Amino acid sequence: MTDWKRTHHCGQLSREFLGETVVLNGWVNRRRDLGQVIFIDLRDRSGIVQIVLDPEVLGSDQFAVAGNLRSEFVVSVTGKVIARPEGQVNLNMPTGEVEVHVSKLELLAEAKTPPFPIHQAEDVDESLRLKYRYLHLRSKELQDTIALRHRVVAEVRAYLDQAGFLEIETPLLIRSTPEGARDYIVPSRVHPGEFYALPQSPQLFKQLLMIGGFERYYQIARCFRDEDLRADRQPEFTQIDVEMSFVDREDVMSTMEAMILHVLKEVKGVEIAGALPRMSYQEAMDRYGSDKPDTRFGMELTDLTPFLGSSEFRVFTDTIQAQGVIKGINVKGASTFTRRQLDDLGEKAAAWGAKGLIWIALEEDQVRSPIAKFLSPEELAEITKALDGETGDLLLIVAGPYDVVSEVLGRLRLLLGKEQGLIDPDLYNLLWVVDWPLLVYDEESQRYVAAHHPFTAPLDEDIDLLEKDPGKARAKAYDLVLNGVELGGGSIRITNRKLQERMFAALGFTMEEAQAQFGYFLEAFEYGAPPHGGIAFGLDRFVMLLAGRQSIRDVIAFPKTVSASDLMIEAPSAVNPKQLEELKISLKG
Ligand code: AMO
Repeated sequence: MTDWKRTHHCGQLSREFLGETVVLNGWVNRRRDLGQVIFIDLRDRSGIVQIVLDPEVLGSDQFAVAGNLRSEFVVSVTGKVIARPEGQVNLNMPTGEVEVHVSKLELLAEAKTPPFPIHQAEDVDESLRLKYRYLHLRSKELQDTIALRHRVVAEVRAYLDQAGFLEIETPLLIRSTPEGARDYIVPSRVHPGEFYALPQSPQLFKQLLMIGGFERYYQIARCFRDEDLRADRQPEFTQIDVEMSFVDREDVMSTMEAMILHVLKEVKGVEIAGALPRMSYQEAMDRYGSDKPDTRFGMELTDLTPFLGSSEFRVFTDTIQAQGVIKGINVKGASTFTRRQLDDLGEKAAAWGAKGLIWIALEEDQVRSPIAKFLSPEELAEITKALDGETGDLLLIVAGPYDVVSEVLGRLRLLLGKEQGLIDPDLYNLLWVVDWPLLVYDEESQRYVAAHHPFTAPLDEDIDLLEKDPGKARAKAYDLVLNGVELGGGSIRITNRKLQERMFAALGFTMEEAQAQFGYFLEAFEYGAPPHGGIAFGLDRFVMLLAGRQSIRDVIAFPKTVSASDLMIEAPSAVNPKQLEELKISLKG
């Protein structure tokens, strides 16, 4: 018996189908019992339609079944599409002009009362939603974000396919290699005491695919990183991972920018003309205090140091003596902030590392500031002018080491930009951040470490800095930033053995030590490595931004909590002692 199978989808019905007999399958979204007649909103993936259960049409036996229907029961109904009586048309609902008068009802599955109403899931505790994720998935928000995710992946594949890329899978059980985060490791039964690692990214494999002659590779790749989690970080996430041969930076950036713009156009109908703006890492830090600037609004950081060289205010003189900087932002129209609001900003600044937050409120008839008495009228005028201050503005100033000042003002800028409603949520501001530092000095180990990874090529003009001033060398690296979120990053790789040796030397290891760590990889380069480079985009982050959501958990079907647990399947979990025994693993304590 298959006469319960659908002929149409709920969300598809409209006046066009009037008079037709249809079979619909779906869940009872809502039930209204008017005694004589029962109305049901029937839901399937396509949407909702009103169905009418009337004993006159249905017969009394079937009507009795209808009386037992509850939310989330699964049913098949057969009935006729009828125009809703005047006055009952609901123009807020795509199917609101019609209803289906049911002549046959079949109950396909009963349902327990769900722990939360599917369409008010946002109001309940997230842990409950995650435990019953399959129920939350039925909600319109998640149906929409997961469908959007599918569209993005489909368009990425379509674009890359026509551009000559091959989709190639790389292994998930690999060797632990040092990347940014901790590895998830998997014990081997066959080789007791030895472990695989889950890949943090397919980095080395995609480079080996270039050496293997594939020239244009991509993969919708699962990556695993045991790191501190945040709203835009999950322990397992997905990258749109790409590598290309016989290319320079420009080729990778223009191909990838075209891919992202293609997706935006096809999926969101947003058309943005290339070429996307570019900004050096240094400029981004100077102007926005961030390596992923949100350029949807101004409030840029202004360097006040040059104007305050002869100041007698202790904080300024000490900062300048210690080779620090004094920078500020102008919060337009915020001179009315109360003492409490200002103290609150000061506390935040302190938590982010500032010694203090200086504020100057340019009020109608006075300048309100705790430091007014320490500054000469000329200094105050210079500061106000440099920050474009006008009556009604609030100037915020931080003095200290460049990194701290950038971090604190960058964060205050974002916070206040949001609070002051300066961000247009409909904008898609994309930009490339280029010329990243190649190496960063690690205070803990007292040596330089690779900012990206040890195979990232330096800018040609900076190669000699590897020995002369390693901290100043810039990399052939690029990040694509969307609305202040790092969407993706990559680089041109080193393929020249001599240069690789110099890079390792700058990192403080000999070629022999490097050989011990990356032997198989370095050996591959001795068999003819084409010039190559690539990039990886965070798919989850991209979809999150396209869906206008705040967390990547909303665009992943089965996400983990911030403590990396899956509350539905209750992972991680203890394992059977026999499994541990087979693995020759014993637990401490
Ligand atoms: P990177 O480490 O910058 O580069 O990662 C690329 C992009 O992946 C996303 N991403 C994450 N998304 C969710 N949760 C996480 N924990 C997480 N970590 C990273 C970000 C990021 O921009 N192999 C290099 C790429 C290359 O050089 O080609 C790499 O993995 O959006």
